[in-house]
Amino acid sequence: MSAAPGQQAAISVRDVSRDFTAGQQTIRVLHSIDLDVAPGELTYLVGESGSGKTTLISIMCGILWPTEGSVEVFGTPIYGLSDDDLVRFRLENIGFIFQQYNLIPAINAASNAAVPLIARGMDRQEARERAVAMMEKLNIANQADKLPNQLSGGQQQRVAIARALVHEPRLVVCDEPTAALDATSGRRVMDLLRDVALAEDRACIIVTHDNRIFDLADRILVLEDGRITHDGQSMPEDH
Ligand SMILES: Nc1ncnc2c1ncn2[C@@H]1O[C@H](COP(=O)(O)OP(=O)(O)OP(=O)(O)O)[C@@H](O)[C@H]1O
Ligand SMILES: [Mg+2]
Repeated sequence: MSAAPGQQAAISVRDVSRDFTAGQQTIRVLHSIDLDVAPGELTYLVGESGSGKTTLISIMCGILWPTEGSVEVFGTPIYGLSDDDLVRFRLENIGFIFQQYNLIPAINAASNAAVPLIARGMDRQEARERAVAMMEKLNIANQADKLPNQLSGGQQQRVAIARALVHEPRLVVCDEPTAALDATSGRRVMDLLRDVALAEDRACIIVTHDNRIFDLADRILVLEDGRITHDGQSMPEDH
């Protein structure tokens, strides 16, 4: 379901294309994507490796410029902002869970999870307390003082999820959030993401191959070779 008439879309993607240049060759990996994401819906993006999922969600959350087209997030045309304003907008409004967790190696798990709060000027002690409280919900508060390289892949992933949610952003974008997790931890993460997505002024987009969680989506988009080929409440029959 896209946004109803009169309802503001959480994200509007208009005619977005993206090219990458490698050596002499320029390859178009996204082709004129048009997409509205409604607030309050858990939206999945599914597709084969190389279909353009990470590229599309990176463009949706202001970390990769489109070659053509425009993106609005809660009504703000993000690629019309100055660099400084875009950084500020991301910090205030968007939480991103990267496919590679991108934790800072030299600081412990709680400090990693507190990064968005500290970047916004919160006192370190309070930021740590908030970060540990979020880590508790993900069942990893007992790992708070470990460095990332002392954690398992699934634990690192949950620290990255805590970091994405700790400042309660309006938009949460996740690239394979449950890939490294067992079924119970995966469900716990999905419950948390659903809480985030369910609020009327919030939205959550999840890239996933994880068929254990397909039943939890409100909307599933399938991307094939840089084009959206399915948009429905469940997976298409041939997948
Ligand atoms: N920085 C880059 N330079 C050149 N080509 C790139 C770059 N980033 C991505 N691509 C290409 O764009 C296409 C889409 O990549 P993308 O990472 O969006 O795929 P994906 O659907 O996320 O795949 P996966 O499921 O493996 O993560 C691929 O063919 C990839 O090789
Ligand atoms: Mg990817």
